[in-house]
Amino acid sequence: MRVVILGSGRGSNAEALLEAGRSGRLGGARIAALFSDRADAGILALGPRFGVGAHFVDPGPFRTKLEGAGEERFIAALAAERPDLVVLAGFMRVLKPGFLAAFAGRIVNLHPSLLPSFPGLDAIGQAWRRGVKVTGCTVHHVTPDVDGGPIIDQAAVRIEPGDTLASLEAKVHSAEHALLPSVVARLAAEGT
Ligand code: GAR
Repeated sequence: MRVVILGSGRGSNAEALLEAGRSGRLGGARIAALFSDRADAGILALGPRFGVGAHFVDPGPFRTKLEGAGEERFIAALAAERPDLVVLAGFMRVLKPGFLAAFAGRIVNLHPSLLPSFPGLDAIGQAWRRGVKVTGCTVHHVTPDVDGGPIIDQAAVRIEPGDTLASLEAKVHSAEHALLPSVVARLAAEGT
């Protein structure tokens, strides 16, 4: 199963996937390439470290969505890698019908809350401010309904009395680093 990863930031979840692949924990999945809409994103620095192609693709003029010429550039760049699975790991843009159709049924997103609670931006901050006692992370199929597609798997994180927003962020990220590789390995085993 050929996997491509899209991210806009640090790339710690892409790194978790690449590490899992290196140590044989991704089953039949292989990370084929990394893509970012930000030339300075940390995720792109992982390419040389892991011997995987890492590409900045110009997203065009929109700030929060992928549409028009930018969407076409992303579709062409990804299609060249013939992906069986497209993983959104911190890709901070809303995908539009053109992209969704190009990789229909093959796109999954990682979100840092127990959806359907706290969709959208700053999900960990939302959960923290709301005062919930359990939050976590979700991997779901991507549909036009932002953060609303069918849930594949989730991991829960308990908020303890001594926690701070920073410690909660660290706990959610560490849950993500375990959940995402396990989901990708399972999808590979199922032949997605
Ligand atoms: C992750 O926490 C991911 O769940 C979140 O961005 C972070 C990326 O971190 N995604 C979203 O909030 C999507 N709405 P990373 O760049 O270190 O993998």
